[in-house]
Amino acid sequence: MSSGKLLSGRVALITGGSRGLGRALCEVFAREGASIAFNYASDGKAAEETLAGLDTPNKRAFKCSVLDRPGIEQMVSAIEADLGPIAILVNNAGVTEVMPFAMLEEEDWDEVMDINVKGTYLVTRAVARSMIRRRYGRIVNIGSLAGFKMIDAPVHYCTSKAAIQGFTLALAKELARYEILVNCIAPGLLDEGVGLKLPETKLADYVKHCGLRRPGTCAEIAELAAFVCSERNSYMSGAVLLADGALG
Ligand SMILES: NC(=O)c1ccc[n+]([C@@H]2O[C@H](COP(=O)([O-])OP(=O)(O)OC[C@H]3O[C@@H](n4cnc5c(N)ncnc54)[C@H](OP(=O)(O)O)[C@@H]3O)[C@@H](O)[C@H]2O)c1
Repeated sequence: MSSGKLLSGRVALITGGSRGLGRALCEVFAREGASIAFNYASDGKAAEETLAGLDTPNKRAFKCSVLDRPGIEQMVSAIEADLGPIAILVNNAGVTEVMPFAMLEEEDWDEVMDINVKGTYLVTRAVARSMIRRRYGRIVNIGSLAGFKMIDAPVHYCTSKAAIQGFTLALAKELARYEILVNCIAPGLLDEGVGLKLPETKLADYVKHCGLRRPGTCAEIAELAAFVCSERNSYMSGAVLLADGALG
């Protein structure tokens, strides 16, 4: 911590780091002194752009779905061999598809629930084992306003993000004995990424009811996550932090 950077010397794994909020998390965490590993599902060009923009030589990208259990285990081993033990995990990868409930098919439900919830479980389990051995860790799960308040968002997405809160609470309780802190950051609407799948009228409605009168930025959420994952946070665990610009 002598450099004055929040995350000096730490190794961070950020899921879904190639675009949107994941990219901002990689950028802010690198600026704060962390070595960065991230994964993504398919968009190699975006992943290359993220890597190129990171202000550290200690950076790795992995094309590996959060649902590929053997691939995740290999990725975690490769990161730990190459960069060192993973001290920070941000479960950021997530998807949504805007559709009315009556049109929501079983495969739509499964896709969103699998990536957003099962993927979080699989990556966390792969990383938690070595955090437990070393008795240190910071885990942040990216939830959403949609899992927190009654808003007009797709039912499968809202369900998956509510599940992330339950996952956070239970895991925080269980892992506290190993000095592993687990928290959830629930952003409101952001100016990039999945939020832009909403129709214009719903975006305008959000801004109208938001105290700050604008969507958040990915960088703003990443700055909050950096603090939560840093040594400056040593007592908050099991918290759900709603960052929605004072939505009324
Ligand atoms: N943007 C918002 O307004 C908002 C608001 C509240 C919460 N959130 C949450 O913030 C998180 C990031 O959202 P975003 O808006 O930044 O999304 P985004 O721009 O669509 O980026 C999603 C990222 O996740 C990756 N990903 C998707 N499926 C994956 C899988 N199966 N395995 C590994 N990686 C996968 C994508 O990689 P590829 O490009 O290769 O597919 C991409 O890097 C999500 O959990 C979302 O629910 C977003």
